[in-house]
Amino acid sequence: MIILEGKELTRRYIRGKYGTDALSQVSFTLEKGETLGIVGESGSGKSTLLRLISGLEAPDSGTLALMGTPLSPVRSREEYRHIQMVFQDAAGSFHPRRQIAASIRESVRNLTGREPDLPALCAMVGLAPELLDRYPRELSGGQCQRLAIARALGAEPEVLLCDEITSALDVSTQAQILNLLADLCRSRDLSVILVSHDLAVVSCLCTRVMVLRGGRVVEEGPVREILDHPREEYTKQLRASVLER
Ligand SMILES: Nc1ncnc2c1ncn2[C@@H]1O[C@H](COP(=O)(O)OP(=O)(O)O)[C@@H](O)[C@H]1O
Ligand SMILES: [Mg+2]
Repeated sequence: MIILEGKELTRRYIRGKYGTDALSQVSFTLEKGETLGIVGESGSGKSTLLRLISGLEAPDSGTLALMGTPLSPVRSREEYRHIQMVFQDAAGSFHPRRQIAASIRESVRNLTGREPDLPALCAMVGLAPELLDRYPRELSGGQCQRLAIARALGAEPEVLLCDEITSALDVSTQAQILNLLADLCRSRDLSVILVSHDLAVVSCLCTRVMVLRGGRVVEEGPVREILDHPREEYTKQLRASVLER
């Protein structure tokens, strides 16, 4: 079953007399329970695509549909709730002068109109509930990212958008967060769009991948096919630049 579908999404940013075509005619489908990877060099439009999908920004043209129903240009609370996003800068996504519990409670209340079960959310991401009383600066990067995932799950979304969520973490913490995400996908049948510049991350978590360049889809398909036997020169270069490091 297709849970989310984007058709010919286009977004142009205009600054003074200059314009950037951040995204041009990008179409995709996301199956229920699937993890779709989005890769591409810096500036290729990955974050722009997630901002459009999450409703943080509206496309200039193109459409999005969730479970076959078009998403309205101005999202309803229910539509927001269904598509949650986790960012690279987890600490920065929490209010600096508020305890984590308060931030999560406010977000879940706003999106669902209900009180979150905070200890259950902590358990879901493998953390002790004591951490909820802390401020963002009192947490490690990995703990913050787990709590950001907990906040997103508190909305009981259909789709989780992950934008470089392990890029700011050290290698061992990265692996733990990726394992957590893989477990959550399996146990909760979550549908995920995972943006990463790291092809190793994408190849271990995703079934399908889409390659972006200059705001356009260069190629897409099963992750093994695309990453092991890229047809496009650009994908080969992406792969080589990761292997060099
Ligand atoms: N708010 C904005 N104003 C102007 N240009 C932007 C804005 N956001 C992104 N861009 C431009 O759009 C292009 C795509 O950016 P982005 O989606 O952030 O790429 P990625 O996440 O793949 O690195 C880049 O050229 C970037 O400079
Ligand atoms: Mg980005």
